[in-house]
Amino acid sequence: MRMRNKYRKPTTFCCNAGSICSLSAVVWGLVGCVIMLHLYSLIHHQDGVGGEIQMRLNRHPLTRELEEVEEESFQIPPPRGKWSPHAPRNKPRPRPRPATPLIEEFLDKSSQIRHLFFPDQRTAIDPMKEAGNDSLYFYPGRMWFDTNGKPIQAHGGGILYVERLGMYYWYGENKDGPTYHAHKKGAARVDIIGVSCYSSKDLWTWKNEGIVLMGEETNETHDLYKSNVLERPKVVYNDKTGKYVMWMHIDDANYTKASVGIAISDYPTGPFDYLYSKRPHGFDSRDMTIFKDDNGVAYLIYSSEDNSELHIGTLTEDYLDVSQVMSRILVGQHREAPALFKHQGTYYMITSGCSGWAPNVALVHAADSIMGPWETMGNPCIGGNKILRNTTFFAQSTFVVPLPGLPGSFIFMADRWNVAELRDSRYLWLPLMVWGAADQPLEYNYGFPLWSRVSIYWHRRWKLPDGWSGQ
Ligand code: DGJ
Repeated sequence: MRMRNKYRKPTTFCCNAGSICSLSAVVWGLVGCVIMLHLYSLIHHQDGVGGEIQMRLNRHPLTRELEEVEEESFQIPPPRGKWSPHAPRNKPRPRPRPATPLIEEFLDKSSQIRHLFFPDQRTAIDPMKEAGNDSLYFYPGRMWFDTNGKPIQAHGGGILYVERLGMYYWYGENKDGPTYHAHKKGAARVDIIGVSCYSSKDLWTWKNEGIVLMGEETNETHDLYKSNVLERPKVVYNDKTGKYVMWMHIDDANYTKASVGIAISDYPTGPFDYLYSKRPHGFDSRDMTIFKDDNGVAYLIYSSEDNSELHIGTLTEDYLDVSQVMSRILVGQHREAPALFKHQGTYYMITSGCSGWAPNVALVHAADSIMGPWETMGNPCIGGNKILRNTTFFAQSTFVVPLPGLPGSFIFMADRWNVAELRDSRYLWLPLMVWGAADQPLEYNYGFPLWSRVSIYWHRRWKLPDGWSGQ
């Protein structure tokens, strides 16, 4: 900015030498003010994080490999309904249809390229088999087996790290039942089985800890009765009460109950006691997550007003309810599947659009204060190809796991929903990095981007850095 002004021809207008002098003093004064304001906003933004502006711009040497942009190409099958040379001559030739859009191929259970989205179990990640060169490698979209050799059932899930035990716990929907439609127009569904929990020290080898919150088989009035909906369970630990608290989306088969449910346990591996459900702040609540801040204050974030906006509110001290404080964010943006994380004092959130089980483009949002205002920064997906980037790699956000010891490095967890067979939905874990400048600088920031860029890097195969020990 200074350079630009230095070489700019002085604005003279039509006046005498005295006024030229005072005009340039005014211009320089203004330039000074803008620079001061910018410096102030940078320092203010860094409050409490040591003002390490460089840290935001530098990449960690251990994670450089994960930030390489990997491209991907698809062999698209020929258009369907092509004219056949064997067809009778007198019949009008059907016009070849344009190639089926990839997203339709993805949703079509008889697609010729289904194996690209849902590779079969011969390629499964199986930590208990001699993995050799594949040991500790994540393969987004492949089947993933637990230590019993069974596919992991933890959809729409999230991870809790229990430092005291050096253990990660992965909670998610157990969808290991038949997929069906409750009504002709109803969404594909699986009856509630419960919430599964898996434990791991390395985030790759997962031991099944069982179903820690059971669905209800007989009592039709119970929230967890099998024909209802239990989605997106997340668990946090309350340091004051010593309890593990689970929040989840509770609904009826038509998604009209639109509530949150709360369950509690003394242990990370349950069993969790289901307490009750409610509409938080009196509003409808569908996709949701919870986030525990560094100071122990926890928040509920949920899609509301028919998914047209998100609401964010503090939990009570015991984490068993919401308090009165609530803020409406991303109003009119129609976002769901929120996954919230924090880096160097800034809050970030990945969301999806609203298209049922079908994938759509992810967006990343950022805020200085968790209660807002939140700014939308654009699509965080990098690499692959255009269709992969515009469909969140054919998946939907569910959680972002911080990697201790690697500041600015996270794992983005998403679900690749298999709408024909929901139990065979896949997990898509990819490195998420926060560094550098954002794509879309904020208007109120005088053209200087304050937010770091959030990038989710496509990789066919990747692993955590060798030196990373898991804690
Ligand atoms: C999208 C949500 O993100 C999922 O959790 C699930 O509710 C589906 N909609 C159901 O269609």
